[in-house]
Amino acid sequence: MKFSHKGLLDISTLVGFLLLSCAAGYAQTQVRFVTWRADPQWVWDQAIADFEAQNPGIRVVREVGPHSSTEFHDLLTQKLKNRDPEVDVFFMDVIWPAEFAAAGWALPLERFFSRAEQKEFLEAAIQANTYQGQIFGVPVFIDAGLLYYRKDLLKKYGFSPPRTWPELVDQAKTILEKEKDPQLTGFSAQFKQYEGLVCNMMEYILSNGGSLWDEREYKSTLNLPKAKEAVRFVRDRMIGEISHRGVMAYQEPESLALFTQGRAIFHRNWPYAWEAANDPKKSKVSGRVGMEALPAFPGGKSVATLGGWQLGISRFSRKPDLAWKFVASMTGKESQRRIGLFTSRAPTRKQLYRDPEILKKNPQFESEFQTFLRAVPRPRTPVYIPLSNIMQRYFSSAVVVPNSDLDPLASLASRDMDRVLDLLREKGRP
Ligand code: GLC
Repeated sequence: MKFSHKGLLDISTLVGFLLLSCAAGYAQTQVRFVTWRADPQWVWDQAIADFEAQNPGIRVVREVGPHSSTEFHDLLTQKLKNRDPEVDVFFMDVIWPAEFAAAGWALPLERFFSRAEQKEFLEAAIQANTYQGQIFGVPVFIDAGLLYYRKDLLKKYGFSPPRTWPELVDQAKTILEKEKDPQLTGFSAQFKQYEGLVCNMMEYILSNGGSLWDEREYKSTLNLPKAKEAVRFVRDRMIGEISHRGVMAYQEPESLALFTQGRAIFHRNWPYAWEAANDPKKSKVSGRVGMEALPAFPGGKSVATLGGWQLGISRFSRKPDLAWKFVASMTGKESQRRIGLFTSRAPTRKQLYRDPEILKKNPQFESEFQTFLRAVPRPRTPVYIPLSNIMQRYFSSAVVVPNSDLDPLASLASRDMDRVLDLLREKGRP
């Protein structure tokens, strides 16, 4: 085939034009997703690959941040404060929607996420994403604190899973004494100074009849006797008697590793730990793990902190419709089903808790479901993070130093919290 000179020029111009418009279109069709790396990785990779396959020409670019909720919050809010238009979709801890909504960082999702569709999800997760009547996130998985224990060791010594914290300490002490294994400790949990510490401490304080703050009076309650008693118990008995001091540097992964290495009798963690603890490739105690609701103090009720992660859309995204398509796919029935089948993270769509295949794969969901219904949320307020920072500092210094005088530490923390809470009282809103 022969082309005239003019024809050739025309073709190269055309090709150039096509290439340019492709490049422009390509940049246009990226979805930038700020997230952290959850286990097992392939489940999340697959969800993204499915979305890309169903939406040819659209590419999801992941920016992976730290696992710690506290550190991830810093990274993400920095971008949002800068109104970074590159961020389209982000992963969001259950405690952030109020802050992100009040700051104008998260897009209200009413026009995409109808009330009828919201009803498909667990109510606590929807409530956590709702602020002043609007919804700001779609729940991906729900969390609640649970007690993991070594079934074999409890059985060997004739114990049933402990119902109270003092019983847990006594059982652990007996087992440690008799096992005489220098590698074994009684308890592992998350006592590092970060958000996980607040989740853990809240479970002790509330199961002793105390609270973090009075949400009607806007007053900290950490310096009241019930709260202090619980903190003292954690310091003197949970840490002082049955854990090794390493727990004070542990977040979820390190504390779980101790348990899966067979070096802890009891372990507090979220639902995802079930899969890791029972996978023979990752765990030395697979098949020897039991799970129960967390203990309470005598006379108190078991309390599980409500956790979980959501997808939100940045208000500064230039592609909110496309961002929604991605969010809808990641939280859709197919992706949620895969989470339910192949991870032990707990899906947020209610119907999956009646799905026989999922229950066969993860029978523990049946009892966990009750825990999710009862789980207690951390107070929902745009100033949660400053309040949490004060609590993190207090709890950390209170449990780390064995003989510290708790009274002045608790009063100081309460005073600082009251100053933040005053802002809310002035504004008259939660
Ligand atoms: C889990 C929970 C989250 C909590 C965090 C603390 O990721 O889902 O809500 O804040 O743990 O470490």
